[in-house]
Amino acid sequence: MNDQTLSNLLSEDRRFEPPAELAANANVKEEAYERAAADPEAYWETAAERLDWGQKWDQVLDWTNPPFAKWFVGGTINASVNCADRHVAAGNGDRVAIHWVGEPEGDTRDVTYAELADEVAKAANALTELGVRKGDRVAIYMPMIPEVVVAMLACARLGAIHTVVFGGFSADALASRVIDCDARVVITADGGFRRGAPSALKPAVDEAMEKVGDLVRTVLVVRRTGQDVDWHEGRDLWWHEVVGRQSTEHEPEMHDSEHPLFVMYTSGSTGKPKGILHTTGGYLTGTSWTHWSVFDLKDDDVYWCTADVGWITGHSYLVYGPLANGVTQVMFEGTPEKGSWWKVIQDYKVSIFYTAPTAIRTFMKQGREIPDSYDMSSLRVLGSVGEPINPEAYVWYRSVIGGDRCPVVDTWWQTETGQIMISPLPGVTAAKPGSAMKALPGISADVVDDDAHSVPNGTGGYLVLKQPWPAMLRTLWGDDQRFKDTYWSRWEGLYFAGDGAKRDDDGDIWLLGRVDDVMNVSGHRLSTTEIESALVSHPKVAEAAVVGASDETTGQAVIAFVILREAAGDGGPDIVEELRKHVAHEIGPIAKPRQIMVVPELPKTRSGKIMRRLLKDVAENREIGDVTTLADSTVMDLIKAREAESSSAD
Ligand code: WTA
Repeated sequence: MNDQTLSNLLSEDRRFEPPAELAANANVKEEAYERAAADPEAYWETAAERLDWGQKWDQVLDWTNPPFAKWFVGGTINASVNCADRHVAAGNGDRVAIHWVGEPEGDTRDVTYAELADEVAKAANALTELGVRKGDRVAIYMPMIPEVVVAMLACARLGAIHTVVFGGFSADALASRVIDCDARVVITADGGFRRGAPSALKPAVDEAMEKVGDLVRTVLVVRRTGQDVDWHEGRDLWWHEVVGRQSTEHEPEMHDSEHPLFVMYTSGSTGKPKGILHTTGGYLTGTSWTHWSVFDLKDDDVYWCTADVGWITGHSYLVYGPLANGVTQVMFEGTPEKGSWWKVIQDYKVSIFYTAPTAIRTFMKQGREIPDSYDMSSLRVLGSVGEPINPEAYVWYRSVIGGDRCPVVDTWWQTETGQIMISPLPGVTAAKPGSAMKALPGISADVVDDDAHSVPNGTGGYLVLKQPWPAMLRTLWGDDQRFKDTYWSRWEGLYFAGDGAKRDDDGDIWLLGRVDDVMNVSGHRLSTTEIESALVSHPKVAEAAVVGASDETTGQAVIAFVILREAAGDGGPDIVEELRKHVAHEIGPIAKPRQIMVVPELPKTRSGKIMRRLLKDVAENREIGDVTTLADSTVMDLIKAREAESSSAD
């Protein structure tokens, strides 16, 4: 967003005060900001007390060896007990935990907390039988079905560390994650349903297993679609056979608060995805507390987060946060067709809805007649996550979906932060379209300049976090040094998020997108270098440069510039499609470039660094910026000429 648009919106004074009835009953009140700032540890202690612990902690925070934090030191806890068993013990066993909505019309299933607890116990027994022990890693590659939640909680129950790989990622992506964290067991399904047709997960696992050698001893397969799959005797087992015959009795062990819960791989500014490590007590505290306070959760709410479990939003705000809070929620398989989401809201009387701006922009394009034909009066709070929400989308979301009565919380956070960090509180904080407003109580965020000084109101800079928080990542899997270098080395004692931000004249925070080589496509994080590596692994490609160009619907889109090898000639008429498919095969369909331009040269500095800034100018159809530092300043003319040719050919 440019400054002009920003100031226009502000001058229009679009500001929404919290509705009075929410304010009166808000879970967290205005005073929390000051109380938490005065004593953050006491504040987070209150949050931790909402959970069931085996042993209570002796110390809230150990920050003697930054950036390595320990939260609730000495405490013991079991995440699966908090997400299932304790709700049954409290008499809520009959409450629906998950209203599952499968993709084929009418394929639905309700799972109560009692059923969830039973299934988790059975799966924990099955994993134990398969030799899974505390500390082992288990990879999960599944569609959006209740078994994925059961599998995660069963790992957590045993203290086995899960790593969920998004089902849309490729066999290669799965293999590299399995190898990096040394997972010996993979849980998957024969397939899932996407856009009306069964997708194949098991074949991708088989392909990945060829790459990982005999590292993985067991592949546990849920039967979801019933399609034929290859079977590897001795390695592959059906979930319904192995889990199905187990007892529903399982004695949980209380794990140390700092025991690792999961590793989630995410893209960074280098080619290799980083394994973000989260631990148990702090993570569960941070996610359950923010889920309760940011959505102002009440007992009779029906909650729905549309994220896939394969991303951090699915982990924190579909699995751990909501289930620890004993919520009734919707889980949706597949992709939304016109109106299908609104029908779910109508049918299940969803009251809290959490989705990404890219989805909102897609629905905006389809027109308001579609949502207008459903009864969505059950909604009371709306959330947005994953990328900056443009004010137009915000206003549409608030008025068309939320009927102008539901507050919208724009929640900023990351895989690394584990929990929501910057967001309005619906009954407390005023909201402005496009702004995440301010750090939550107990969180200390700032916008700083190159020298780490706070910027004055009305200016932009880098977003940093100044104090540890419970759900913060503890390190990168197997790489403490990279953890320090990536997040903590730019400025002493500050966590550098990688995002640009701005404070408006009131001091409220506006997120402005990434300032590093990470792109955000439809709310999914992708690394430019990772896609470049995928492109140059194709035999016809000599060099590649990738940029994220702004896109009306997806926020950003992947644009690639490639130089072909001499032997490849002009690559043939289908070279662009061939390369797009290659990227999808190497990483996953979400990484497919929207456009690939075959160019004779790439703009480089004298030291050989590719100037992506100039390529971005081309991709966004702008006047080319300053070219004086280029080794050969005529390169841009060649690229522009090629671009003009390819656009006229379209
Ligand atoms: C971006 C997703 C603006 C940001 C939870 C961050 C946002 C990255 C917002 C993390 C928001 C997330 N406004 N930008 N409300 N939420 N982002 O790890 O660039 O997949 O650094 O976590 O998404 O993406 P990740």
